[in-house]
Amino acid sequence: RRRSIADKVKSYPDFPKPGILFRDMFPLLRNPTDYRECINLFVEEIREKYPSTEVVVGIESRGFLFAPLMAQQLNVAFIPIRKAGKLPGQTISYSYALEYGNDTIEITRESIEAGQHVVVVDDLLATGGTLSASIELMNKAGASVECCMVLLELCDLKGRKKIKSPVYSMIPLN
Ligand code: PRP
Ligand code: MG
Repeated sequence: RRRSIADKVKSYPDFPKPGILFRDMFPLLRNPTDYRECINLFVEEIREKYPSTEVVVGIESRGFLFAPLMAQQLNVAFIPIRKAGKLPGQTISYSYALEYGNDTIEITRESIEAGQHVVVVDDLLATGGTLSASIELMNKAGASVECCMVLLELCDLKGRKKIKSPVYSMIPLN
């Protein structure tokens, strides 16, 4: 089942810079059967291993292509993690260091309750910076991260080492 999904991921050498092999998952979304199957696989993993999940959290922007569809199937809430300054009302934020400078991510304070069991979803695990910051943000909100789920993992970058919750990657790549 994963094979057909993996086949839809297209590789572009030297994009956006020389030496980078860019993995594009958008061709997968052009195929409704494989896209649906991908969501089904994520949902099955959650039902089997993390049945207490109450919230599916998606990371802006490509995490939004998966998390809301998963939440719908599971009949639980979807909530977004966004870059700072995008969400109205009271927010909880977390700042983290990048190679150059730093970045801040936020959630809406009222969107999550302390003690809730959440799954955090993104399209890609590369260095792990985005997911580990998202876990810190969830912990700051008092939520318990059951698992992080991604479509693609760039295994060579060893980003998984930075993630303190379990990680499920549907398509591990080298
Ligand atoms: C990409 C990708 C992940 C993140 C992974 O997002 O969608 O969110 O990088 O990298 P990391 O593991 O090294 O942190 P990007 O910031 O390019 O933006 P987008 O999702 O808005 O396209
Ligand atoms: Mg992203």
